[in-house]
This record gives sequence, structure tokens and C-alpha cells, in this order.
Amino acid sequence: MKRFFLFGLAALYVSLASCDGERPRTTGITPAPQQVAWGRGRCVLPETIACAGDLAPADMSDIETWADRQGLALVASDAEPFLRFATDDTIAAEGYRLTVSPEGILLASSDAAGAFYGMQSLLQLTERFGRELPALEIADAPRFPYRGLMLDVSRHFRDKEFVKKQLDLMARYKFNRFHWHLTDGAGWRIAIDRYPELTEIAAWRPYPDWDAWHTGGRRYCRRDDPKADGGYYTKDDIREVIEYARRLHITVVPEIEMPGHSEEVLAVYPELSCTGEPYTCSDFCIGNEKTFQFLTDVLDEVIDLFPSEYIHIGGDEASKGAWRTCPKCKARMEREGLKDVDELQSYLIRRIERHINARGRKLLGWDEILEGGLAPNATVMSWRGVEGGIAAARSGHHAVMSPGDHCYLDFCQDDPTVEPPAAAAFLTLPTVYEYDPAPDSLGEAVVPMILGVQGNLWCERVPTEEHCEHMLWPRGVAIAEVGWTQPEHKDYDDFYARVLVEIERMQERGYHPFEQKDAVGSRVESREPVACLSTGKAVTYNTAYSPKYAAAGDGTLTDGLRGGWNYGDKRWQGWIDSDVDVVVDLERKQPLTYVGVDFMQGFSADIWMPREVEISVSDDGERYTTLAVVANDIPFEYRKSVYETFAWSGEAEGRYVRIVARHNGHKGGWIFCDEVVVR
Ligand code: ACM
Repeated sequence: MKRFFLFGLAALYVSLASCDGERPRTTGITPAPQQVAWGRGRCVLPETIACAGDLAPADMSDIETWADRQGLALVASDAEPFLRFATDDTIAAEGYRLTVSPEGILLASSDAAGAFYGMQSLLQLTERFGRELPALEIADAPRFPYRGLMLDVSRHFRDKEFVKKQLDLMARYKFNRFHWHLTDGAGWRIAIDRYPELTEIAAWRPYPDWDAWHTGGRRYCRRDDPKADGGYYTKDDIREVIEYARRLHITVVPEIEMPGHSEEVLAVYPELSCTGEPYTCSDFCIGNEKTFQFLTDVLDEVIDLFPSEYIHIGGDEASKGAWRTCPKCKARMEREGLKDVDELQSYLIRRIERHINARGRKLLGWDEILEGGLAPNATVMSWRGVEGGIAAARSGHHAVMSPGDHCYLDFCQDDPTVEPPAAAAFLTLPTVYEYDPAPDSLGEAVVPMILGVQGNLWCERVPTEEHCEHMLWPRGVAIAEVGWTQPEHKDYDDFYARVLVEIERMQERGYHPFEQKDAVGSRVESREPVACLSTGKAVTYNTAYSPKYAAAGDGTLTDGLRGGWNYGDKRWQGWIDSDVDVVVDLERKQPLTYVGVDFMQGFSADIWMPREVEISVSDDGERYTTLAVVANDIPFEYRKSVYETFAWSGEAEGRYVRIVARHNGHKGGWIFCDEVVVR
């Protein structure tokens, strides 16, 4: 073994940046390793790689099984091993040092995960360089101990083989947590012996399509109903997935939603809701002891199955409405001295935490669990931005960062007029990649409390497996590099080049990633400012925009900045349940040849084209002449995002230009526009 270390010291020199023409500039390894030192000479891999060393037999066998699936022939052999595993307790958890020399390969780590990740890197080297590897030494370790991906299997069920296929790719990118969103209003997905209705009924919908189900009464049916669509995992399925993941050094973190997002449970056990009636509530009744019986029974079975130290209990987006009037909830609040419904929710989370802690596990929940007071040992998963995670960390709790604007893989990743229907928000590969979950600026007290990062794929509008992979990859690779690679070793251009290669490899292996090389990027109209007669002119609002989507305030419609794909980019201004009625004052009467305004439609965000847009002009701001009434021709049902200019062209004169965009009458519907262009 010493031989390798000598080689490491004498013949290697650190040369991340240097390159002498012969030497490859990059290892191509993804996520990028922390340190690479290039050596001299080549390492020619034998057809079958004899390996031996300090690994426990079970860990060795896991590596062999994995290597076999990758087409890398390993054979355990003590005689003259070409690949030697060594224990080095100075190496960080999950880290490794991989020394590739003409004499052979040494893979040192302090744990089995590190050895596994070293093998992932070795595999990627063989994919890049073939059987003649350049001599090098890689010293690598993850930036964060929690590197996760979440898959929502409630909104659309995925079978265990699909899950295992994604786990394979996760392992390649050194993820170590698979967060399985097993329960939600659209379907319960895990067999629970004590509550068979959960999988006899609550796992099945008479509509495969989530939107049709959601707008069509949100009903469930029995599994033998001819229309039944859905599914669930038996306990054996779950054990199989957990074991498969374990061998890839991935811990499966189960999520059981409470107290909100629970329509499916309350449909089959309505006595657990405040009304006692099915299809009336999404939240459990916290005043009812039976709720605690149910939840702790379910959690006991979940804890029996899942070895994960974390049990995710959801906690997000409870409507809390029924609790305000429910006699049982009110009585509980009075008895326990809880001043509002936030504290009532916190009461439930704390009780559930005690139950979980008593069984040796830790509670993990979405950042709403901060409301009403955080349970004493809870870890927060921050999704509504980073503030929840930071607040938790400041108060001495651990946090996992998963903010929507960097980590939500259900958001559209490119031109939404072409991409499959997605959440009407936008998240590109570079935006995922640029994320830093724990910048130094957060301070010494906060940074160590941030355990890591997680990408989330919600599947309301992701009906098929192909679509699911399209959303997960390659943005999932960017999440992996955010979680693994230290910021100083991240470089988007280098990552992008590697990702294109990774996409080809995924495709060769039957995955369906997004074709990043064809990405169009930002909306063309948003790239350059417009300068026209209305630029910088005052706007009078006859109807008020929503403060929630004020964008840049009263200057938005004439600031020369057209909106991007994302209605939340502060260039689009939003009106809810209202017409848009605005007047631009051009300051003097002048000839006009064109007036145009862009609107967008985003089905999943309730953003609609106006029914029609009336464009008129006036000399005095009192009496208007209509130039055009432009009718909408985008159907209400159209699922993709659309951006349309409603315009008039011709010859006219005037000082005041008025735009009236009439609401389509859909309750709760928004109208968004970005700029009034006048020429
Ligand atoms: C969430 O996106 N509701 C956690």
C-alpha cells in the first residue's frame, strides 16, 4: 500500500489550472471533485479489475453488484490486487482519495460511502478516458452531509422500478437522501396494516389526470373500480426500495403529510376531520384524540419500515380554516392555552415530535412548522425561500435548504410555450446551479446548522415517467453539484460542458432528460429594453394592481422592460378578479401608428388572457376614441403558457392612450401584463 502513497507524494503535483497539452484539462467527473492533482504516465486498466482491501465483505459485495450493473468487471482477490481499498480515518465522512498510477489504483476513505463515491468517480474516469486512465490523485469530500431529491408520488403514482431507476442516477451524482413524498391529497401510496382503506380507496382516483381530478370534485374510488387509476407500495415494495437505496448509500426519508394536504385520508376516515364529512376538509381535526391515534399508528408502521433517522411529517400549507370554528379544536386551544391556530398546529407537531423522538428518530418538516413555535428538536426544510431555514438555524435547529426559486424542479425549465405543461414558474439549469445554500455571509452561527440542499419534484402536472425524468434531469445534476462541490470549485461553463455529456449517457441508458443543448433560455422580448413613445411616461391606474404582484410599482408598464417567462420576475404586473384599466399620458398630442400590450396565460397559476382588450386614445383624457377591440383567441383550457401581444396598428393622434383588458370572469383569475408599447 505504501507504494501508492509514495507515488502520490513524489510524482503528483496539484494542477487544477495548469495544463501542458498532453494532460487533460478536466477529469469530467460530476459533481466536480474538490481537488485533482495530475500525475505522470498512464494507468492501463485490466479487463477484470482485481480488488482487495479494508472494506467489510458486505460493502465489497455492494460495490461489486453496483459495478456489475455499470459494466465494470471487479473481482475480489487478495493476490496482487490492482485496485486496493484502504481505510484512512483522516478523510472526512463520505470523502475519498483516489490515486490512479501506472502501478494500480488506491482508493482510501474513512467509511464505506466514501469508497462507493470513489468508485463512482473511477467509473466516470473510465467513461471519459477508456481503459487508459491518466495518472492522478483526487481528494474529494462533500460540502454538505444532506444531498437530497424529493419525488412526489401522490399526485401521480410511480412504480418501484421507476424509483429504483432514479436512485441509480442519484447515486451516480453522489446524492445521499431520497425524500419520498408518499402521501398527499391526491393519493395515499403506502400500505398501512391498521388502516386498509388508505390503499383500498384513498390510493385510487377515477381520473388519471390531476387537473381533471382536482377540478372534478377530487373524488376517490375503490381499487377494483373500472376507472380506478393510481397505486400504492406494499410493505415488501418499500423494503425492496429501501434496501436498493441503502446499497447505493442513499437513505430513503419517508414523508407522511399532516395536518394539511390530507384530503385523501379524510375521505376514507371523515371522523378525523373537523366536519366529520368526507370531501369537506384538507386538514386533520387537532381537537380530536382519534387524529393522534391515527397519526401515531401510521408513524409506528412507517418507523418500523424505514431506518431513516429523519421522518418527514410535512406540515406545509394547512388551510387552518375549519380549526377556527370546530368545537373540538377550540376546546383543545382553551385547555392547552393555545392563542391561535398557528399554536394549535404547533401543538400537533410537538406531540408528534415527542412520539418520533421516543422511537429514536428525528422530525423533519416544511418551514410552516416554525409557525406557532418550532418543536424542540425539529429540523426545518425551507421551501418558501430561505428565510425559514435561516430562522431555524439561528435558533439552533438544523435546516435543509430547498427554496422554490432554486430547487423546485416542477417549474418550467425553458420556453414554456414549447415545454410540456408545468407549474407556471420558471427555473433554468444555471439558476439551479448558482444556488449557494450556506453562503459565509449567513455567519458562523448559521452556516454549520445548514445540513444541505434538496431538489423537489412535485408531480401535479407530471403524468408520465418520461415527463418526470425530463423535469428531474439534468437540473437534478445541478442540485447534486450544489450539494457536493465547494463554491470555489464550481464553474458553470465547465459544468455545462459536463452536463451535455451526462445527458448523452443518460439517453444511452434509457433516461429522458431535457435536451439542455436546445434550450432557448430567456424570453427574447425580455433581453433588450424597448424605447418608444410611452417609455418613462406616467401611468394612471383606474383599476389597482394587486400589491402581491406590483412588480416595479406605478412605473412598471412604461419602464421599457418586457417580462420574461416568469410572472414573478417583477416585470409582469398582476390584477386579480379585475379588469386592467390604465392610461398612459404621452405628455403631448402626437401621431400614433402602433399600440401593443403583452399578456400571458399560465394555466396552473390561474393566469388568464383577458377576454378582450380595448385600445383607445384621447386628446384631453376625458373623451376617448376606440382604436381597436382585440378579442382573445387562446382557449381557456389551453395548458401551456402563452404570451400574446394585443395590438392596434394604423394612423391616429392623441395624448392619452388607454388600455382596458377585460377579465374573463374566472373567479380567482389573474391578468398579467408587462409593458404598454406606443409608437
Ligand atoms: C410545498 O411546496 N408545499 C412544500
